[in-house]
Amino acid sequence: MIAASPAHPTRLDAWRDAARPLLSAGVPPDAVSWDGSLFADTDELPPTGATPPRVPPDFLELAETVLRHRDAERHDLLYRALWRIANGERELLEHATDPLVLRLSLMAKAVRRDAHKMHAFLRFRPHPEEDWHLAWFEPEHRILEAEAGFFVRRFAGMRWSILTPDGSAHWDGETLEFGPPGRREDVPPEGEGEVLWRAYYGSTFNPARLKPAAMRAEMPLRYWRNLPETREIPRLMEEAPARVAAMVARGASEPSMRRQRLIHWAPSGVSEAMELFDAAAGDREAALAALKAEVLADRETPLAAQATQAVFGEGPLDPPLLFVGEQPGDEEDLKGRPFVGPAGRLFDGALEKAGITRGECYLTNAVKHFKFNPSGRRRIHQSPDAGDIAHYRPFLRREIEIVAPRLVVTLGATALRAMMGRAIPVTKARGEIMRTPEGLPVFPTVHPSYLLRLPDPDSREREYGRFVEDLKRAHREVM
Ligand code: URA
Repeated sequence: MIAASPAHPTRLDAWRDAARPLLSAGVPPDAVSWDGSLFADTDELPPTGATPPRVPPDFLELAETVLRHRDAERHDLLYRALWRIANGERELLEHATDPLVLRLSLMAKAVRRDAHKMHAFLRFRPHPEEDWHLAWFEPEHRILEAEAGFFVRRFAGMRWSILTPDGSAHWDGETLEFGPPGRREDVPPEGEGEVLWRAYYGSTFNPARLKPAAMRAEMPLRYWRNLPETREIPRLMEEAPARVAAMVARGASEPSMRRQRLIHWAPSGVSEAMELFDAAAGDREAALAALKAEVLADRETPLAAQATQAVFGEGPLDPPLLFVGEQPGDEEDLKGRPFVGPAGRLFDGALEKAGITRGECYLTNAVKHFKFNPSGRRRIHQSPDAGDIAHYRPFLRREIEIVAPRLVVTLGATALRAMMGRAIPVTKARGEIMRTPEGLPVFPTVHPSYLLRLPDPDSREREYGRFVEDLKRAHREVM
């Protein structure tokens, strides 16, 4: 029996350095002990001079992920697969039902899922005295080192530490370092922001839609205790049956004027917004909050994995104007609010010039997550494609149904496409009221960031003037 002990428990290069000499010396898997407690060592293998065979890249990719799994047999299982690949089964990984391949794929899947949970459920809390943020997280697998880069990219401008029972990661704005395990007590207690978030969560909780099994599957109980918003769940679940009974007891009421207005967007008569509206017992604030919670929890698009958070719309119900932008930008992504970056500031100025106050408008976006290409520490805006727009369209439609504006103003091509369901050049459509396929009036104009991109001051001033005129026209239509 040969004992092999990689120099690092989870790194691919360490496992490879231990496995290569074994493979070159023709040591079969049954003759290797990977727990490091047996007789010999790989150093004592007779030199064979043979170069180990080349290994397919998809195996290395799989091995890299599997090595982060906590299963103590991972090294052994990988060596068994490597052995078979090197001994005539080069296509091994294509046999998905092979017991070894299946086990390795399930392990890799579990690790990827854990990484996804970490991205979604890790919460930083500000240090009470220092300019530093701390988070406590208990990953199921050893993923801290591999996933720390994700948080560096996302929170590059912040100084932070992630503490886990396996080790810690520290980012000072320049360098990422790993250290010893942390303790939950080292992370500061819940702050004001989280108290607000809990109150928000409580107010959006819809007892009639309670699906505890699905909630548990999506967010395992072990994460709940680290998330401020989920601390409300046990109480809300307890109260749910009584709240549903109260809803039923209130019974069906006559459709209100507001409800009839919603039907306008829903020719089939039974739109999802109606369902939300009913479930929230006629409370549109609650329906909107429930929709917001759905958007925040949306993980079905790759954009959600990359962005810091979803950015939902903001503004009053029944506004004269609802503006649809393209997608949150870098600042919006970090702050979780629409139109708070450079384009938003230009937009605020133009609204003011047009005699419109921001408070009377509802502002939202066609796409709810920031789409970007990382470039060093910068995140370069990427335009949403047709698939992105289609993904968010049902959310946008329901949002507009609930908010019930008098007129929707689209800013730029993405917003126009989201409303009309097809690409239409803004230059052609600009300044004229159009109807969506469902009959909703839409007023297209350009996006404020188009004005920011114009190179010379003259055309910028001219185009800014045209934009303000468009805003005034839209406003006149509804006043
Ligand atoms: N651009 C948009 O379209 N929306 C925002 O929220 C910010 C910039």
